[in-house]
Amino acid sequence: MLTTSKSAETMSRTYVARAQKRDLCIGIMGLGYVGLPLSEAFLSAGFRVLGFDIDSAKIDALTSGKTYIAHIPDQRIAAMMATGRLEVTSDEGRLAAADALLMCVPTPLNIHREPDISYVRHTTEMIARHLRPGQLVVLESTTYPGTSDEVVQVILETTGLKAGVDFAIAYSPEREDPGNIDFSTSSIPKVVGANTDAEREMAIAVYEAITKVVPVSDMKTAEAVKLTENIFRLINIALSNELKTVFQGMGIDVWEVIDAAKTKPFGFMPFYPGPGLGGHCIPIDPFYLTWKARAHGETTRFIELAGDVVTRMPKIVIEALAEAMSAHLQKSVAGSRVLVAGLAYKKNVDDMRESPSLHLIHMLRERRAHVDYHDPHIPLVPTTRDHPEFSGMKSVALTEANLKSYDCVLISTDHDAVDYEFLVRHAPLVIDTRNAAKNISADLRHKIVKA
Ligand SMILES: NC(=O)c1ccc[n+]([C@@H]2O[C@H](COP(=O)([O-])OP(=O)(O)OC[C@H]3O[C@@H](n4cnc5c(N)ncnc54)[C@H](O)[C@@H]3O)[C@@H](O)[C@H]2O)c1
Repeated sequence: MLTTSKSAETMSRTYVARAQKRDLCIGIMGLGYVGLPLSEAFLSAGFRVLGFDIDSAKIDALTSGKTYIAHIPDQRIAAMMATGRLEVTSDEGRLAAADALLMCVPTPLNIHREPDISYVRHTTEMIARHLRPGQLVVLESTTYPGTSDEVVQVILETTGLKAGVDFAIAYSPEREDPGNIDFSTSSIPKVVGANTDAEREMAIAVYEAITKVVPVSDMKTAEAVKLTENIFRLINIALSNELKTVFQGMGIDVWEVIDAAKTKPFGFMPFYPGPGLGGHCIPIDPFYLTWKARAHGETTRFIELAGDVVTRMPKIVIEALAEAMSAHLQKSVAGSRVLVAGLAYKKNVDDMRESPSLHLIHMLRERRAHVDYHDPHIPLVPTTRDHPEFSGMKSVALTEANLKSYDCVLISTDHDAVDYEFLVRHAPLVIDTRNAAKNISADLRHKIVKA
């Protein structure tokens, strides 16, 4: 931990006092799944907010009070705009007006499954062009330990201004869980790491206005915290999938096992199997550490093993589907009609990034099945860079006639908005990868195959 100079102390004291009076403009860079609710939290706390995104379609939508994220309805956007304290813009010249700049931009993997921090780099370069003394810059995007020190700070210091002296820099990982109604930005504690006391105090002052803060000693520790959380999830999800496969061969229902095991009040935490990994976090973040570990001459065998186990899951599901079609309907997959129920990567959201459903559709088509999908949250598949072949597909309505017209329904996402009793009643055969049909009437259970 570095010591704090006199000028840094003054910078920090002034900033903290202004934060306590809500006399700061909080700039949020990247108004996606993370940045939009974060903007809302700072508005609710009484701050002025400058929302910045390079995607002008998002800025246009917000300006006209419209949402582009299903679980954040229009009314919440309109309420944010109605505060009169939210400015949304694509004009980088406005960045100098912000006292804090919180970066919530994508951190994907490139085609070689290595960290793609080009968005972080570009955003930081943009900030550097407008950086002024006294500003606080915080990276919130998930990334490998060292990004804030080796990339963000290095770029910002090319301005001639010095971190910890002229401006402040911190890292605070985002823990947003879209669609989770039990937790929101204001009820999820925020880990904050900075390399000097002055910078840490400035970042704490900002974040403690919206939630409980957990300070850690430096930026790389905070970066490691986020990866640890997501690696823990990856490994436990992989384990639950491996147990599913093993127990299935023994005639044991893994969901029943997990539900009973979780009654142990300590030492066990439930994770559930599914058709594979999805979303912007768990399939990606752990491999940021794998990449960085390699640079330190270390391997991440646990992470890679877990990745291998879950990557096999879509194939295992398709094999189970083929077997069930043969046993129940005496049909093969080729020439059959399959409805994939759920396109989003997890329940109750409209996010289909890295969704295993896309792999399932792709594999079924490879086997020459006719495949449609139903998803109450994704009426139409937008054009995506990764899967242009699915662009324009439309969600099929879950009517009795439609369900009867398919040979098989493959439940890949357990959205609450779907009536599973209705679905199973009218579908000839159901492959359930989420235990979504667990409460179905006894007389329908013979139609369900868990996979
Ligand atoms: N979505 C989640 O559930 C979640 C949860 C925790 C952490 N995270 C992490 O948060 C980060 C952001 O994820 P997200 O899901 O919000 O992504 P997103 O794609 O929904 O939003 C990112 C936004 O950044 C914008 N953007 C790109 N470059 C920009 C730039 N130079 N300046 C300003 N805006 C720019 C994009 O237009 C987009 O609107 C990622 O690192 C992700 O891993 C995401």
